[in-house]
Amino acid sequence: MKVLVVGSGGREHALAWKLRQSSRVSRVYCAPGNAGTADEGTNVDIAATDIERLVRFAKSEGIDLTVVGPEAPLVAGIVDAFQDAGLTIFGPTAAAARLEGSKSFAKQIMRRANVPTADFRTFDDPEAAAAFLQSREDQPWVVKADGLAAGKGVTVCRDRAEALQAVRRALVEGAFGEAGRTVVIEECLQGEEASILAIVDGTTIVPLESSQDHKRAYDGDRGPNTGGMGAYSPCPLIDDATMDEIAGRILVPTVHAMREAGTPFRGVLYAGLMMTGQGPKVLEFNVRFGDPEAQPVLMRLQSDLLPVLEAAARGRLADAAALRWDPRPAVCVVMASEGYPGAYETGFPIRGLEEAARLPNVKVFHAGTARRNGEIVTAGGRVLGVTALGEDLADAKLQAYRAVKCIRWKGAWCRKDISDKARKWL
Ligand code: AMP
Ligand code: GLY
Repeated sequence: MKVLVVGSGGREHALAWKLRQSSRVSRVYCAPGNAGTADEGTNVDIAATDIERLVRFAKSEGIDLTVVGPEAPLVAGIVDAFQDAGLTIFGPTAAAARLEGSKSFAKQIMRRANVPTADFRTFDDPEAAAAFLQSREDQPWVVKADGLAAGKGVTVCRDRAEALQAVRRALVEGAFGEAGRTVVIEECLQGEEASILAIVDGTTIVPLESSQDHKRAYDGDRGPNTGGMGAYSPCPLIDDATMDEIAGRILVPTVHAMREAGTPFRGVLYAGLMMTGQGPKVLEFNVRFGDPEAQPVLMRLQSDLLPVLEAAARGRLADAAALRWDPRPAVCVVMASEGYPGAYETGFPIRGLEEAARLPNVKVFHAGTARRNGEIVTAGGRVLGVTALGEDLADAKLQAYRAVKCIRWKGAWCRKDISDKARKWL
C-alpha cells in the first residue's frame, strides 16, 4: 500500500515513521514533510492546505490511504475533496471538523450531549459581551476566538478587566480576523491538564493511551503559550477508572451527538481535559493527533497503525484488533529555535543527530527542519521532538535528555522539566 501523510511537523514525522513499519506499507509519502520524513519515505513539495494539488497527486500516484496531520486542511474540507474523488482518507469531514474549527459549535455539541465542560456564553456583539462580564462577579475568565487562530485565540484572564480587554481585542480590534468575530467566554477551570486521543469511525471509539502536553514555554509552566514544549505518556493522573469515566461521560456522548447532528465523526477525537475537583472537564476538542502528544504515544504503540486507521477511514473500526501498548513510558522533549514562540531565525545547521540516534530507545522526530546542501538545518520554531522510552518515567526522561545533550545548533533550547509534573501522582 502507498500511504500519504499530510503535514510537516513532529506529529507527521511520527506518523510517517510508524506507518512505514507496517508490513503492508510499500511507500510512505509526506506533503510537504521535513528532513526527518524524507528519511522515512518521499517528500512531496505540496503545501498541506493545497487540497486540489494533493487530490491530484494522490490520484496520479495511486495512494491507498491518506492521513492528515494538521487541522487547517481538515477544517477546509480535505476529507470531503478526497472522498469526492473516490480516495480513502483518514480524518473528519469539514462539517465534523467544526468540533475544532468552531469553539461555539463544540460547546453546543457538549451542551446537547451533557458533556462536562466550563460554563460559557457566546457573543458577537462587544457591548453585550461587556454587559455580561459587568453583570458577573469579578473573577478569572477565558476568552476564546471562535475559529482557528493558529493556537493564539485563547486568552486566560485573571479578572474582569483582562476579560474586557480580550473581548475588545477580538470583537473590536479584530486581532484574530474572521476567526475572532465571535467569542466564547467561559469560566476558568482549575486543575491539571491531560490529553486523551481516540480513533473514531463515526460510531466505534478506540481510545489511545493518555498523555500530557507542556504548553508553556519555560520550566515550571511559566512564560508564554506555545504549540507544546514536550509531552509524555501515559499520564498517571488517568487511571483505569478515570479513563472509563472519560469514555463514558465525554467520548461516547460526543460521538453520539455528532452522529445525531448529521455530522458523524471519523478521525482522531482529541479531548483536551482539565482534571478538576468535580472530575474531568473538556477544555477543547481537536480533530487530529496532538503535537507533541503523538510522538510519545506512537512510540509506545506496538500494534501496526495502518489497519486501525484504514478501518476507521472505512467505517469498520469494530472489526479491528485491539491495540497493544508498550507498558514503558515515553518522554518527548521539544528542542526549539532561539526566540520561539516569538520571532526566530532559521537556517542553522544541526549537529549531533547521528550520535543521538545511536542511543538505545531513542527516536529523534523532526519538526521544523530542512535539508540544504547536504546539511540538516533549522526551518521552524519547534525544531525536534527528542523522544525516549524508559523502564519508568525517570528513566525515559533521563534518556531523552541524554539524546538532547548530543544535539546542538545556534540558539537551541528546551525545557528541562518535561514529565516532572507526573512525579506528584506516581
Ligand atoms: P488552545 O489549545 O489554544 O485551544 O488553548 C487551550 C488552552 O487554554 C488549554 O490548554 C488551557 O491551558 C487553556 N484553557 C482553555 N480553556 C480553559 C478554561 N476554561 N479554564 C482554564 N484554562 C483554559
Ligand atoms: N499539543 C496541543 C495540540 O496539538 O493542539
